[in-house]
Amino acid sequence: MKKSENSRRDFIKKSATLVIGTIAASSLLNQAFASETISENNFSPLDGGKFTLPVLPYSYDALEPHIDKLTMEIHHSKHHQVYVDNLNKALQTSDASVLGSPQTFENIFDKIGKLQPALRNNAGGHYNHSLFWQLMTPAKAGVENVPTGKLGDAIKTTFNSLEEFKKQFADAAMKRFGSGWAWLIKTADGKLVITSTPNQDNPLMNLDAIEKKGTPVLALDVWEHAYYLKNQNRRADYIASFWNVVNWDTSESLFTNSK
Ligand SMILES: [Fe+2]
Repeated sequence: MKKSENSRRDFIKKSATLVIGTIAASSLLNQAFASETISENNFSPLDGGKFTLPVLPYSYDALEPHIDKLTMEIHHSKHHQVYVDNLNKALQTSDASVLGSPQTFENIFDKIGKLQPALRNNAGGHYNHSLFWQLMTPAKAGVENVPTGKLGDAIKTTFNSLEEFKKQFADAAMKRFGSGWAWLIKTADGKLVITSTPNQDNPLMNLDAIEKKGTPVLALDVWEHAYYLKNQNRRADYIASFWNVVNWDTSESLFTNSK
């Protein structure tokens, strides 16, 4: 690893530790945010008290031909930026006595039911997209992109085979009416579960409407803005493309580092 990467990782780790060290949270959220990967990729750096758009860990064209450059560029620099901007605006007009501090995802998701809808939409939008970027990586030529390690074993144990898991995950993504997300989560009792959420909700939100709660292990954005330019209305083609660029290392880290 390059020295600059080491320095960056150290900085992020220390920043994350400072933030996480001040948090007293519910057990589920605590587990989710205790994840090493979430900490290392602390995508909520408080730059002057504001959330910022994270830098993509690869170039806009790096996921070609599976996810096209223009979609990635607009998705990241326009759509995601709007969630960040609107999240910061919503925080400025939120009741500080309800919100409390620190202004982290953990705190916001824990209190989400008591906060204005703009926070649900935009804190969710910022968190979900930040995670999504980390869960993709350029495809390697000639190498089958499959999960290995403990996650690979757990997927086979839970779903009988990787193929069956992909089929059920794709089914959840296809059946999400309108806009939303498909998830593989690790529940508080350590089980792998497939679920989906509407809009920018996610399985970390402390809401009755979130049927299945847990730590995200894999996430897929099924809003049309994620695929319409390349795939138009063919969501199934987009889902099939996604498997080529899943970052199973990040997914494995999320799985093994959550309790
Ligand atoms: Fe999106």
